[in-house]
Amino acid sequence: MDVTRVEDVVGDFVTLKKRGQNYIGLCPFHNERTPSFNVSPAKNIYKCFGCGKAGDAITFLKEHEQLSYRESLEFLARRYNIKIEETVEDSEAIAKKQMEEGLYVVTGFAQQYFSKLLFDSDEGKSVGLSYFHERGYRDNLIEKFQLGYAVNAWDAFYKTAKEKGYSEKLLQEVGLISERKENFIDFFRGRVIFPIHNLSGKVIAFAGRYLKKEENSPKYINSPQTSIYDKSRTLFGLFQARNAIRQHEECFLVEGYTDVISMHQAGIENVVASSGTSLTIEQSRLMKRFTSNITILYDGDAAGMKAAVRGMNILLDEDLNVRLVLLPEGEDPDSFVQKHGTTPFREFVQKNATNVVLFQADLLNKETGNDPIRKAEAIREIVGTLAHVSDPIKRQLLLRECSTKMLVDERILIAEVNKLRRKSFSKEQQQKPSLPEQKMLNEAAEEQMQFTKEVFIAERDLMRILLESGNKKYNDDSSIAHYIISSIAEHPFEHPNYRALMNEIINHMNNENTFPPENYFMQHPNEEMKRTVIGLLTQSYELSENWEKMHEIFVTEKETNYIKDADSALRRYNLRIIDRMIADNSKEMREAEKSGNEEELMKHLQVRKSLNDLRKQLAAETNTVIVK
Ligand code: UTP
Ligand code: MN
Repeated sequence: MDVTRVEDVVGDFVTLKKRGQNYIGLCPFHNERTPSFNVSPAKNIYKCFGCGKAGDAITFLKEHEQLSYRESLEFLARRYNIKIEETVEDSEAIAKKQMEEGLYVVTGFAQQYFSKLLFDSDEGKSVGLSYFHERGYRDNLIEKFQLGYAVNAWDAFYKTAKEKGYSEKLLQEVGLISERKENFIDFFRGRVIFPIHNLSGKVIAFAGRYLKKEENSPKYINSPQTSIYDKSRTLFGLFQARNAIRQHEECFLVEGYTDVISMHQAGIENVVASSGTSLTIEQSRLMKRFTSNITILYDGDAAGMKAAVRGMNILLDEDLNVRLVLLPEGEDPDSFVQKHGTTPFREFVQKNATNVVLFQADLLNKETGNDPIRKAEAIREIVGTLAHVSDPIKRQLLLRECSTKMLVDERILIAEVNKLRRKSFSKEQQQKPSLPEQKMLNEAAEEQMQFTKEVFIAERDLMRILLESGNKKYNDDSSIAHYIISSIAEHPFEHPNYRALMNEIINHMNNENTFPPENYFMQHPNEEMKRTVIGLLTQSYELSENWEKMHEIFVTEKETNYIKDADSALRRYNLRIIDRMIADNSKEMREAEKSGNEEELMKHLQVRKSLNDLRKQLAAETNTVIVK
């Protein structure tokens, strides 16, 4: 894909202005008023100096359009009229793809048919359109969601489709018609139609709402599962909401189709619906592709609350930040926003959004009162929820708040949560050692994992500085790259990807005597390595910042120069290594204590003392203050 110019591809989505050799524009990945999004035609990459996102044309499409690698290639191929070489696919895969293509054609046709009926037919206008108007939907909104109408007749759609030559088999396959007594009848009859889109905006299914309450008929009927529609992997409105979600860095989650549409009407576009069922893992992952901040808006009744709590652990498992807003009794987002308007709606949400774990703690508090038995149950329940919070920092903070709210000793909560987490951790392991052994193993594994994570973060930060400033001068004798590489020579990186990358850089420097040029990795044949580099250049600083906060270390300003950055990242890296040595030392001390070996214990204590001194010194040099 060498012919693709990054500025053309990006230019399709971002307004770019020429600035010297480069182009500059407002970053599409975060909200900003002054442009910090740079596109370099020379290097054929883009980079945002505000949020750090960077990459090439393919990366841009993957991130901005949420396309897969394959889809990005197809996009570029269409855009530039290039033929992509087909990999050999087995006939089964080809048949499946052709079948799916056929289904898209049919659903696309049906959507246009229903929309046309809504706006152009007498019945559509007098029944369907007036229904939507009564609900306060403007025409531009009806068009945006491609709403439609199915006339009240047995086979109006089938006849038209057949006339136009659509295959009965495909029509049946997507559930738009069904066989009855050697004839075909329409699935949607006398209902308003809500099409359901996939992420690229293709219609994959429909929901039809009755217009008046009917005795023996559900309010909505929905298309069946097909090879292009998997209910558990779909969120209504995501196609229309995705840019707004990215922009606001927040996604509202509601229950119903009408909630989504009414909120759009009020100018709140970052909203999707779970469509009345409980949330699935796939749906949470889908949201996570766009934002980590989910705000659930649910009806203020008991059922709404239960539904919210049910969906919660799935979201927490995906490490999402989940807040909950309970609307006043009897209201749903649709009625609430229509009744009160946009600004009061936003204010209400702002004021009432509560972290979902704390929300549950409050709820449990209210329920238990002074009853000690119910209180024990409530604690067990909140412990169950806390165990789903996988980020140790967030878990710690929430745990502390829950302990205050529920008047439980924090240590009890910690112990119980750890017990549960270990249990679910060991469930995943098939071979089971004896119980005490298991416990020790798990504790050691947990400790090990925590350290490894911290070391990885330190390695990542160093690697990032190396990539961004490796070729710059550190002092008269050496470049940043020389400095970093010689400083860590004794401890090769632990993370396999960073280690491989480091080796590649060292080799390149040995052979070519220079630091690899910027586009070196963008054009690297090793996809994994290219991904690692792009990942390093695009990740936000969030994790390490959190970590610093947790340990109450205040790092120097992010905007300092690269020499300072390199120094401070190296020190932090060394700190992690010392921490690991301290942990090893603790283990050895515990063992010496257990076996009663006083001499050994004294030796370890001595080592510990010098390690502690070293750590203190390093921390002081890092310009960081340890308040702990
Ligand atoms: P609601 O009953 O709250 O419907 O169900 P609604 O969307 O708010 O519709 P209005 O305001 O009464 O017109 C919430 C969601 O549950 C699913 C739909 O996705 C609906 O939007 N649902 C509900 C069904 O799939 N089938 C049903 O029969 C009812
Ligand atoms: Mn409703």
